[in-house]
Amino acid sequence: MILIKNCLFFTLLLFLFSCNSSSNDAGEYKPPQSMLSEDAVPKEVEEKKDPYQDWERNHGIGPIEAFEFDQPVDSAMVKSGKAVFDTYCILCHKEVEDFIGPPMKDIYKRRTPAWTMNIILNPTEMILNDPIAKQLFIDYNSAPMGYQNISKEDARAMLEYFRTL
Ligand code: HEC
Repeated sequence: MILIKNCLFFTLLLFLFSCNSSSNDAGEYKPPQSMLSEDAVPKEVEEKKDPYQDWERNHGIGPIEAFEFDQPVDSAMVKSGKAVFDTYCILCHKEVEDFIGPPMKDIYKRRTPAWTMNIILNPTEMILNDPIAKQLFIDYNSAPMGYQNISKEDARAMLEYFRTL
């Protein structure tokens, strides 16, 4: 009986040892040299940049090329901008929280005013060809911001309203 017990113990030890040594082998695995060579990394992956990165130089695609705000905030424009926003945009955008589209708060910390106006006036082309809008479209579940025939004047008023959020 004792002999059987000893045998079992010894077998168990052997088993444990073999498990241990095989995991060591796995730890020491070295990939073949060909996998380590630079050619193995596809060039597009290496060069792919974050499209949100260069937002400060991006004015988007559309009728607005350059745009600066006058100081200070024009309160009459803010009021009419909010009215337009509440009519056409509230379906998909909230002021502070994420919704179907991004919130408008702090928009000028991540987009130029010209870019913001161009996506309002020319969303379809922006989503197709502007790197930031293309990425936004992917990040917002491929929900397209549709063309709504907003006038330049109304878009400008909304831009003023966004300054106050
Ligand atoms: C049908 C839903 C919908 C409506 C209505 C809509 N948008 Fe959008 N908007 C989106 C989505 C979704 C995005 C993200 C880009 C995309 O997927 O098209 C977006 C993106 C934007 C952006 C860029 C935000 C960022 O963080 O860069 C601005 C600015 C914007 N919309 C303003 C407006 C304004 C102003 C209106 C009203 C005239 C409006 N949107 C109406 C869905 C909508």
